[in-house]
Amino acid sequence: MDKSSSLISFSTILIFIISFFIVSSHGKTQSGGLDRLSRLKLSQTVGKGSFPDHFNPAVLRGIRILSQKGMKEKDKIERLPGQPPQKLEFSQYGGYVTVNQSAGRALYYYFVEAQHSKESLPLLLWLNGGPGCSSLGYGAMQELGPFRVHSDGKTLYHNHFAWNHAANVLFLESPAGVGYSYSNTSSDYKSNGDKSTASDNYVFLLNWLERFPEYKNREFYIAGESYAGHYVPQLAHTILHYNKKANASIVNLKGIIIGNAVINDETDVRGMYDYFATHALISDETAEQINKYCDFSPNATTQTTECNDAAQQADLDTFALDIYNIYAPVCNSDKLTVKPKRISSVIDPCSDVYVHAYMNRPDVQEALHANVTKLDHDWEACSEIIRGWNDSPTTVIPLLKEFIANGIRVWIFSGDTDGRIPVTSTKYSIEAMKLKVKTFWHPWLLKEEIGGYTQVYEGDLTFATVRGAGHQVPSYEPRRALSLIMHFLSGRPLPDISNL
Ligand SMILES: *[C@@H]1O[C@H](CO)[C@@H](O)[C@H](O)[C@H]1NC(C)=O
Ligand SMILES: *[C@@H]1O[C@H](CO)[C@@H](O)[C@H](O)[C@H]1NC(C)=O
Ligand SMILES: *[C@@H]1O[C@H](CO)[C@@H](O)[C@H](O)[C@H]1NC(C)=O
Ligand SMILES: *[C@@H]1O[C@H](CO)[C@@H](O)[C@H](O)[C@H]1NC(C)=O
Ligand SMILES: *[C@@H]1O[C@H](CO)[C@@H](O)[C@H](O)[C@H]1NC(C)=O
Repeated sequence: MDKSSSLISFSTILIFIISFFIVSSHGKTQSGGLDRLSRLKLSQTVGKGSFPDHFNPAVLRGIRILSQKGMKEKDKIERLPGQPPQKLEFSQYGGYVTVNQSAGRALYYYFVEAQHSKESLPLLLWLNGGPGCSSLGYGAMQELGPFRVHSDGKTLYHNHFAWNHAANVLFLESPAGVGYSYSNTSSDYKSNGDKSTASDNYVFLLNWLERFPEYKNREFYIAGESYAGHYVPQLAHTILHYNKKANASIVNLKGIIIGNAVINDETDVRGMYDYFATHALISDETAEQINKYCDFSPNATTQTTECNDAAQQADLDTFALDIYNIYAPVCNSDKLTVKPKRISSVIDPCSDVYVHAYMNRPDVQEALHANVTKLDHDWEACSEIIRGWNDSPTTVIPLLKEFIANGIRVWIFSGDTDGRIPVTSTKYSIEAMKLKVKTFWHPWLLKEEIGGYTQVYEGDLTFATVRGAGHQVPSYEPRRALSLIMHFLSGRPLPDISNL
């Protein structure tokens, strides 16, 4: 029997079990998307070539900037159903941007202007991962957007630590097939991959800037988590490529920031098992066996029986946890409540259920200017219609190096209770870049408490942990996450202990 296939089929069972525990009957989670891709990559059905090498700008020959006249005004959202009654200090917009006219492919965006100084604050694009997960369902409604959904699935409350205190924030559902984003050419759902996602995202951005021309020369930053560890650098790389080609700053890209991000497969996987071991989730024997017998190098196509057995044991030991936040409660009900549950400072583990209900309400879709073509499937936090994934390089480190060489600010953060792409993985990935340390490891402070730890490297790369946060950092530690993004955007180092 092919040894790698037993690892794969075991993960399949695992995914089923995880979904069973964490979500309800409907919908996939951000976890599901990533696990599916890891499985495909193990089975070698995904192209792995490195991004700059296999990236062929010819796919972008057809960049079209269409007229966006009058569309911004039409996209203005008057009010979201269930929004708190107070008058808002900011404007919100939502709508579609066509990225490919002949295929009929359009991406959905939700945009919240800054709560103050919107004319001078930067533009920040947020991307979630998966692949296949929605930046609206996670980023906007559970992490860093101005509203969160109550347990009744129809009313909203304010997130006091929304990132639009620091920037004008754009959420994009990408690629087509995610959330409300769609294609009239259904075969597009089978031909997604990193490369096509980067080019559609780039075409989206150019057209969106045409619709909102006041942001054209604004400082621009890209942020994201999880599999967006691929999307964010790949879009940034595309922007740099076209800026260079035109010898002009078509998009005024200043920096990128990625959290609990897929960066480098080999160190990502090794770091995951080391995290399990150092957080008392698996035995020392299992950990030793994994380190001794598993080959995490990108070229490995099979694993030994000893490796598979140990990996299986690790799966069994961890499957009932929310591996995305090893200390968090899990959701065990898919029911809405008639009356909203009281808000606690800890995010409700069943928030996926509430957001799913909210996004599928016809009045919400109408207010958001979403689903105007009456799609034949529900809105899901993670797409159920995207099939397969064509290309996914094993590393994005060459892209991060490219940004450093081009003076683009790079921050990498990590919620330190995530077990899926944990802090160990991210530390190993950064070590693999072999950068010189500029400011050594030290705690960073917020409100006289340790917000996390940070180390700065030469070339303007900052690594920062967020203490007590899981995979979705702004969901679990909203105040620390806002402080982090404010420091990133202003280019200020995180405050040292000497400032206590
Ligand atoms: C539009 O998308 C289709 C795939 O659906 C692709 O074949 C075509 O090349 C794309 N056109 C442009 C201009 O990018
Ligand atoms: C997709 O098809 C619908 C129905 O024909 C049409 O209204 C819509 O504009 C098309 N979408 C795009 C992006 O062309
Ligand atoms: C690029 O633009 C700058 C001025 O903006 C000019 O000095 C330089 O010669 C240009 N380079 C090329 C290769 O066209
Ligand atoms: C993996 O294979 C590629 C091409 O076959 C080779 O260039 C590379 O050095 C190999 N990497 C490792 C870690 O063996
Ligand atoms: C779009 O609207 C149709 C008809 O109301 C509905 O059945 C479908 O679930 C909606 N899909 C999305 C993605 O919002």
